Amino acid sequence: MRLFHFAFAFSLSIAGSWAFAAPNAENGKQLYAQHCAACHSAEYNGIGPLHAGVFGRKAGSVPSFTYSPAVKASSVVWGTDTLSQWLADPEALIPGQKMWMKVEDANARQDLVAYLKTLAKSK
Ligand code: HEC
Repeated sequence: MRLFHFAFAFSLSIAGSWAFAAPNAENGKQLYAQHCAACHSAEYNGIGPLHAGVFGRKAGSVPSFTYSPAVKASSVVWGTDTLSQWLADPEALIPGQKMWMKVEDANARQDLVAYLKTLAKSK
């Protein structure tokens, strides 16, 4: 019986580090606090635009934020794939942008996107 418990715990820990773990918005929230909050928030513009309602909106469409001409003119719409591409390499998705930051870890990107998806539109 002891042996069985050990084996069960072991398989759980493998699942925890599995490369294709389900998106985790809670973890994304922490990553956001660490890596994005210096420039962004859900409610107000900072160095970067506010993120409330970012999921599903067109890139460069917060009226009160001054975007780079490149982002403003782009026809990218923020969804799971475009957000992940943006975070992996903003300049590759929209050349001429001004967010000089990359998230190289695919799991981290997935969790960040899951978190962004939870941010409801501001009123
Ligand atoms: C050093 C400041 C800085 C950091 C850190 C930063 N950003 Fe940005 N972000 C910007 C700026 C500036 C823009 C606007 C880019 C432009 O207009 O070219 C932007 C734009 C964006 C956009 C497009 C928003 C829109 O309204 O079109 C998303 C999405 C985004 N950032 C997500 C993130 C996430 C997620 C992180 C953390 C992993 C992050 N950013 C970290 C500065 C930053």
